[in-house]
Amino acid sequence: MRIPGIREDVVEKLKFMFEPDSVAVVGASRDPEKIGYQCLRNLVEGGYEGRIYPINPNASEIMGLKCFPSVLEVPGEIDLALIVVPAKIAKRAVEDCARKGVKAIAMITAGFSEIGNKEGEDEIVRICRENGIPLLGPNIVGIANSWKKCNASFCQSLPYAGKTAFISQSGALAIALIGWTWLYRVGLSSMASIGNKADVDFSELILYFGERDERTNCIAMYIEGLDAGPEFMEACRRVSPKKPLVALKAGKSERGVAAAASHTGSLAGAPLIYSAAFKQCGVIEVNSLIELFDSALALSLQPPMLGDFPLIITNGGGAGVCATDAAERYGIPISDTPPDLRESLRKYMPEFGSPKNPVDITGMGTADKYEGAIREALAHPGVNGLAVLYCHTAITSPMGVAEAIYRPYSELKPQKPIVAAFIGGSECEEASSWLKERGIPTFPSPERAMRALSALRAYGKIRERFGGAGAIKRA
Ligand code: COA
Repeated sequence: MRIPGIREDVVEKLKFMFEPDSVAVVGASRDPEKIGYQCLRNLVEGGYEGRIYPINPNASEIMGLKCFPSVLEVPGEIDLALIVVPAKIAKRAVEDCARKGVKAIAMITAGFSEIGNKEGEDEIVRICRENGIPLLGPNIVGIANSWKKCNASFCQSLPYAGKTAFISQSGALAIALIGWTWLYRVGLSSMASIGNKADVDFSELILYFGERDERTNCIAMYIEGLDAGPEFMEACRRVSPKKPLVALKAGKSERGVAAAASHTGSLAGAPLIYSAAFKQCGVIEVNSLIELFDSALALSLQPPMLGDFPLIITNGGGAGVCATDAAERYGIPISDTPPDLRESLRKYMPEFGSPKNPVDITGMGTADKYEGAIREALAHPGVNGLAVLYCHTAITSPMGVAEAIYRPYSELKPQKPIVAAFIGGSECEEASSWLKERGIPTFPSPERAMRALSALRAYGKIRERFGGAGAIKRA
């Protein structure tokens, strides 16, 4: 049911959804194959320290926890009820939650508007709204909060911890991408699966993560369709000067629109309208899941790029050419190194190197040469952002170069962004993870590094446009 405008009280109450002190799993199952068992196990094994109440009238104990036949029998308060009973008994479960005074509901149960059961869905929303209970879903995978260690979902684990809040209109995608957060070290503060968004909508989640959640400094969204467009834009306008918002709008092709309609009942709408709206309200649009994750990684770790001069430092001419092409494609064209900087960079390369942009310290570029060049670039006022590219050679170890990047970065604490690309095998992968854990977004290709830097420039422009002009430190 469309929201009647942004509800500030709902935004406020979302703290019970994402930072609950107690969770009831309504439909906690004894059967390890069932979703209701997995949700309970995720809370217990994820290390959640709040109170957990399994609700099941047919069981007395699951995983050593006492079961209650209904939320009404629970002795303490319930912040979040995670509903995992079939659709036909979900309404009864919601009525009990209302009677109990449950503060928020996340409903995993499918079988509502996405299959034409709009009436059943509206009935549940009506009960929740009459009782002031925010409802997330139905038809979701659940929610996860990594710092609270609250995995109220049937995702395989908590996400890798970090500062991006991920709002996904696809539950299955959210589950799969939790794996990516570990693999690519893209840290999430929270994950919210929004499903049919029968009640709580994108706008309210954006405002919660944007204005009330200090653990979040970037919001990433997978969107199939919006049905409360003006509210979405209002929320983004409010948040974008403070925290970056990045979105992947899926369902752009003719067949994609139809697929989105049958997936979450969404009206995917004309792609150009979405792109124009994103621009107006300060949302950075990306075109693939990889771009969404890469941009979120960079935006959550680094300050925006204020100004149009990125410098590229590389030990491989080819990597520099690829990065230059990518930079132009992504809207941050490369121009010549200022003469004074050119002069000082000369010290860190052989005669046949090039101090032009890209700065090529050549295959003879050892870790100390990288470090010297990086120090010069970070200290130069004309450089607005830095991309360090490294091709694995026999004369340098990836970890040595990683340290050569990190040392000046941690000492100089620059108010300008830095990204890196480590091109090579497993040793590069290891060095990349080491850098990411220390706040430097690192990618396996020059193109991905430049795409990430372009997201930081896009956010710099948004901050300039909306008035939040000063650079902000994110790491
Ligand atoms: N209150 C609480 N629990 C109750 C109950 C009640 N009133 N009545 C029955 N239960 C218990 C059942 O006894 C069962 O536990 P048990 O296995 O120990 O007997 C448990 O609740 C689950 O009920 P069950 O009927 O077995 O449901 P299910 O596990 O087969 O399916 C859903 C429930 C919610 C998972 C299913 O209906 C569904 O919607 N699946 C799709 C979910 C999905 O994909 N969401 C979108 C993700 S992207």
